[in-house]
Amino acid sequence: MGNESLVKTQADPVGEAGKAAPDGAITDKEILLEVVDLQAGYNDMTVVRDVCFTVRKGEILAILGSNGSGKTTTLRALTGTIKPMGGTVRYRGEDITGLPPYELVEKGIAMVPEGRMLFGGMSVEDNLLMGAYLNRDKQAIKKRLDLVYGLFPRVQERKRQIANTLSGGEQQMVAIARGLMSDPQLLILDEPSLGLMPILVQEIFRFVKEIADLGVTVVIVEQNAMDTLALCDYAIVIQNGESVIEGVGQELLANEDVKRAYLGG
Ligand SMILES: Nc1ncnc2c1ncn2[C@@H]1O[C@H](COP(=O)(O)OP(=O)(O)O)[C@@H](O)[C@H]1O
Ligand SMILES: [Mg+2]
Repeated sequence: MGNESLVKTQADPVGEAGKAAPDGAITDKEILLEVVDLQAGYNDMTVVRDVCFTVRKGEILAILGSNGSGKTTTLRALTGTIKPMGGTVRYRGEDITGLPPYELVEKGIAMVPEGRMLFGGMSVEDNLLMGAYLNRDKQAIKKRLDLVYGLFPRVQERKRQIANTLSGGEQQMVAIARGLMSDPQLLILDEPSLGLMPILVQEIFRFVKEIADLGVTVVIVEQNAMDTLALCDYAIVIQNGESVIEGVGQELLANEDVKRAYLGG
């Protein structure tokens, strides 16, 4: 396969779920999230100029790119943490551009922010309960808690511990577990491996796979390109606020030119 076929062309227009992808992979799964020509930044500085990608139901989509390329800003804009300057975000066909985070949680989108952002002085369990704050059904919350503890036994062991006394890896698990407390269909993770030892990175990635296997669609932002490409179904690379390349994870991983040019390989 030539390199050109991997390089981004225009994003697919709306409603083309089912159309064969250029690489003949993924394809006929329903489109869950669609980001078209997203622009965002801070004050009058545009950081994200032109980001486009499509997330299909049940897949793990990776957003890769070096430090400062605009990955976090992209996530902030698509989850309504900052107001997009342009472009469209569609979720299950509905225009959700600029909706605030709590409305997205109601719609089934949960975000695990960069740096975990736990309530450091609160217990692990109270942090988890914060992830279910929109739910008034105590029994449903209890069930959810049990499910999440089942997935993360180590989090359960530490449920009474104050969050900021946990190790970095444990804190990341709590942050992901908290994201799952709202029973999301789409879980968005911003650099879950940041600052973790390689062995813990592998553990976190195993959890991400398990979560996807439960049927949760995942968007994962990472600088750790090689491990992430092995994990994801599809990946895009952001450079200077633009999505410059995309493709099936395994194919990008196998492409030496792509690795050299974009992924520090
Ligand atoms: N809160 C902010 N205010 C002003 N500039 C910011 C802010 N956050 C990020 N930036 C700038 O936006 C650019 C992209 O940052 P970011 O989206 O965090 O990149 P990444 O997540 O890919 O490392 C950087 O130049 C960064 O300095
Ligand atoms: Mg970032």
